[in-house]
Amino acid sequence: MPSPEHTVIRALLARQTGWVSGGDLAKKLGVSRVAVWQYFEKLRAAGFVIETGHARGYRLVSAPPHAHATLIETQLKIRPRDFTLTVLDETDSTNDEAARQLAAGRAAPFAIVARRQTKARGRLGRPWHSPANGNLYVSFAFRPQLEPARMTPFTLWMGLNLCELIANATPLKPGLKWPNDLLFDGRKAGGLLTEARVDADQIRDLVFGLGLNLNSLAADWPDDLGQRAVSLAELTGHTLDFNRLTAAVIGRVLLAYQRFLDGDYTKTFAELWHRYDVLRGRAVTVLEGTHRHPGTVLGVDDDGALLIKNARGRTQRFRAGEVTIEKTPPA
Ligand code: BTN
Repeated sequence: MPSPEHTVIRALLARQTGWVSGGDLAKKLGVSRVAVWQYFEKLRAAGFVIETGHARGYRLVSAPPHAHATLIETQLKIRPRDFTLTVLDETDSTNDEAARQLAAGRAAPFAIVARRQTKARGRLGRPWHSPANGNLYVSFAFRPQLEPARMTPFTLWMGLNLCELIANATPLKPGLKWPNDLLFDGRKAGGLLTEARVDADQIRDLVFGLGLNLNSLAADWPDDLGQRAVSLAELTGHTLDFNRLTAAVIGRVLLAYQRFLDGDYTKTFAELWHRYDVLRGRAVTVLEGTHRHPGTVLGVDDDGALLIKNARGRTQRFRAGEVTIEKTPPA
């Protein structure tokens, strides 16, 4: 059941920048006009800029630039009945927080968004720079009840869905670099991190984390990241509506997860892979532990493993590894 805050925000969004009558809202909610005024004061305190007009009511001037749970929820286009969302001001890592909440028995699926993370991680334990700068840090928690082997293409499938979402929502051309990088002209704007806890032959629970650079500015990056990282705001030249885009991301991830479970994703996978893969035909070196494997990328197999052809014409298969794109073909 929607809360009064949901109803108030929905009314504001429905009128866009038009006026919402306090009297109408009071009637709809079955509360006094003073109570309605208090709801608007709470929204103002949370970062909404709302104008009050004598005899006209209330008007949304701008929504908060940071995560706001109700604003995200009211803009979700799909929402499984049992899905819940938490927005935190700060946490160590949304992946770790989701894992702790799963372990404590919170019902899945749920998502945790944090405005800032203090110990966020990427693949191979690398730090993920996560100040409060308008970027998205979100983790999804699921209990898929699948055999671990079925999950292997999961991260790639999620990455392809996120590429498709960004391509539809912006004028940008995203690319997916196996296994988990969202790239724009060779610069990274997003990373995916899937972590599962496995019982004997079943996934007990799964956390899928996404860091997506939405509104950070070039000057926000530490020196070593500035050349390699980019945000969607830098690429489009304007600030993105954080909460609207976050709602779109959450909707897409939930839908993609359902399609993954149903198993009907395989046909679309090939089509999306063809559209967004940035490695096919490229000369690369795959770093696997301390071993370097130069070769040319052929694609991925049904399990999402990377296939490369080495200089002797042999096909090699990698389930994990770090890929560097070479400027010149391997010798
Ligand atoms: C990578 O590119 O190596 C993956 C980066 C994943 C970062 C996200 S941010 C939200 C979630 N919380 C974490 O600690 N990591 C993921």
